[in-house]
Amino acid sequence: MEQTIKVKTAHHAYAVKIIPNGLSQLGIYLSKIWSKRQIAIITDENVAPIYAEQVRQQLGSAGFTAQLLVIPAGERSKSWQQLIKLIDQLAAWHFTRSDGILAVGGGVIGDLAGLAASIYLRGISIVQVPTSLLAQVDSSVGGKTAIDLTAGKNLVGTFYQPDLVLIDPTVLQTLPERLVIEGYGEVIKCAALVGSNFWQLTSKIHSVADIYKFSSELIAASVAFKAKVVTEDETETHQRQLLNLGHTLGHAVERAAAGRLFHGEAVAIGLYQICRLFEKAKLTVSPTTEQVAQRLQAVGLPLTDEALATPAFYAALTHDKKIHDGRLTLIYLEKIGQPNFYPWSLKKVIIWLKRELPTIN
Ligand SMILES: NC(=O)c1ccc[n+]([C@@H]2O[C@H](COP(=O)([O-])OP(=O)(O)OC[C@H]3O[C@@H](n4cnc5c(N)ncnc54)[C@H](O)[C@@H]3O)[C@@H](O)[C@H]2O)c1
Repeated sequence: MEQTIKVKTAHHAYAVKIIPNGLSQLGIYLSKIWSKRQIAIITDENVAPIYAEQVRQQLGSAGFTAQLLVIPAGERSKSWQQLIKLIDQLAAWHFTRSDGILAVGGGVIGDLAGLAASIYLRGISIVQVPTSLLAQVDSSVGGKTAIDLTAGKNLVGTFYQPDLVLIDPTVLQTLPERLVIEGYGEVIKCAALVGSNFWQLTSKIHSVADIYKFSSELIAASVAFKAKVVTEDETETHQRQLLNLGHTLGHAVERAAAGRLFHGEAVAIGLYQICRLFEKAKLTVSPTTEQVAQRLQAVGLPLTDEALATPAFYAALTHDKKIHDGRLTLIYLEKIGQPNFYPWSLKKVIIWLKRELPTIN
């Protein structure tokens, strides 16, 4: 069954469509929003062998001229080098503002292709076809684009909304299982922020098989929430910051683990620890932490990691790009479905965490 969620920002409105087997009707959906034009399929070397031919055929049968650019897989492709390569290729294909980009892949492809679309000829159209769970529930919606610098992740980017996001949950069947689970970490975060029916839905998930079984519902609930937040606060001045629940500690532990933890696993740890610490401080009601722990553990997501006890964790925390004037805004849950902001001085946060987090024995 097809589900459509509308995203509306100050300058742009578009649909996010969740369509099982939607990839096999991609041409039809693109024809509805774009007149005949050249389309650059941007994808990565893992996704291309599985889906590029099907996508190319879809575009051809709908009368589009398809070009294909395959980028190396992984975070390292969010670089100046790949951005320049992509933009040079668009120019070599003589792309004009009547042409468009189709980003087919995970968050890396979405972020890189989105940035290229936003700056080539001062902006050409883009459609996102996210293929990882993380990209389907999070990164493809909202228009944040980025590449990384040596100094940190996502330091160069734009806000640039796509014309359409087409999500086919069946492509998750080819996504490695650990990536399905880490993407689900973001879903639990959203469900904890929203509460009510969304939180209830996550009580049905006891295994990876359940994630597949309920993927359309989980994606729709996550996207509906993200669409609402983005509609209210496109550029993350206030409300959109709530999406950072679990991310302050999560990012720091991810960096300290130096590649050992996936992003969604680190967010799971950040989410659990922030609940535990705020519940101890009596700002989060019991048994919120236990409920969160149950949801995370149901699919084997971690609650803690030795990297929390390392100097690298505190170094990463100190370099959080969301620190302003020595202050950090922690997001916490008063209870499930009731998030709140806790602005605090970085120095005090660090003293508090050194006291409350696990220490090295
Ligand atoms: N723009 C935003 O708002 C936003 C939000 C969250 C995260 N992000 C960014 O997203 C990125 C992470 O996204 P990700 O986890 O999707 O990483 P990714 O794009 O590297 O994809 C993960 C891996 O899965 C493979 N893959 C993707 N779909 C597949 C499929 N269907 N079958 C087989 N393999 C598949 C990819 O080739 C890659 O190896 C980070 O760079 C992060 O900064 C952006």
